[in-house]
Amino acid sequence: MKAIHLLLAGLATTFMPGPIKASPFGEEYKIVGGREAKEGAYGWEVSLGILTNVPTSKKQREIQPESSKLGTHFCGGVLIHKDWVVTAAHCLAPFQGKTFTSSPYGAGVGQRSLVEIFDNGRIPAVEGHIPADYDPKSSTSTHDVALFKLSKSVTNVTPACLAKSDPKDGYGNGLKAIGWGSTTRMVLNTTTDQWSGFTPAKRLKEADMKDLTSSAASCKNRSDLVCIGPVTDGDASCKGDSGGSLVNSDGLVVGFTSFGGSKRISNTQYQTCNGDTAYTRASGTIAWIEKVINGTICKK
Ligand SMILES: *[C@@H]1O[C@H](CO)[C@@H](O)[C@H](O)[C@H]1NC(C)=O
Ligand SMILES: *[C@@H]1O[C@H](CO)[C@@H](O)[C@H](O)[C@H]1NC(C)=O
Ligand SMILES: *[C@@H]1O[C@H](CO)[C@@H](O)[C@H](O)[C@H]1NC(C)=O
Repeated sequence: MKAIHLLLAGLATTFMPGPIKASPFGEEYKIVGGREAKEGAYGWEVSLGILTNVPTSKKQREIQPESSKLGTHFCGGVLIHKDWVVTAAHCLAPFQGKTFTSSPYGAGVGQRSLVEIFDNGRIPAVEGHIPADYDPKSSTSTHDVALFKLSKSVTNVTPACLAKSDPKDGYGNGLKAIGWGSTTRMVLNTTTDQWSGFTPAKRLKEADMKDLTSSAASCKNRSDLVCIGPVTDGDASCKGDSGGSLVNSDGLVVGFTSFGGSKRISNTQYQTCNGDTAYTRASGTIAWIEKVINGTICKK
């Protein structure tokens, strides 16, 4: 097994900026299996997209090919305050380990369709923070969480609430993984560092998950993680889902997508998006978030 991040860097060619490069540990995920989310069910789920080369006029955006529109999405995120989005630290590859004051990324929020998100335009990120303890060289690093501030407040969507504590015995079967990640499993060729098998999700998806924190290898000795596996065989978080949410039956966000295991299928190939996924435990991030934003967020 090899731990692999679930971000999409390297797949979206059209609007990809120079600094983002495919790396076995610099990738993100989307949902395999599962189903389309209901309209408005997760309005606070964010699609992070590249803004480089994206036209500033809506008319010009609308006439771009659909593949380019879908290709701008690279990670998930969660609106936790009208001005702030949480995502995974590994999604912000060029800025890992740093605080930044501008970036080529934007947030699409309050919409399920990636085409609509693109046409309507993402809100640019103007400031970002990654914890000093995050190690960009490790695909299983602690503190795989990041915050970025939006250039304008979101007033038409209610921010998510985070779970401020977790049940001692875990969440059982009552979890949902949310995201726009690949709807098919992907294979990594380690000779070329290239991924194949990506299929974009056009609309936000969800899949039922069970809590495997007490048994999964990735969660051993890791109170900072929640580990999950599919309720229905074949469902999984996949590349493009990184930074997005894991939700409990009360609609609270309990985790942010971090990394998944993968299966060796030959000497040079790994298949990913086929099982357990590790999420950064949301309850463990609240103090850091409130300190960085110098404010309070919804938590229950
Ligand atoms: C991986 O990439 C190398 C270099 O392009 C190629 O020779 C090899 O056939 C690829 N492996 C598979 C299983 O496709
Ligand atoms: C796991 O935790 C135990 C108890 O805290 C510790 O002794 C052990 O070294 C840890 N193992 C790893 C691999 O971190
Ligand atoms: C944090 O917020 C408080 C109250 O809103 C304000 O008085 C204080 O100056 C802020 N601190 C920083 C470092 O911005």
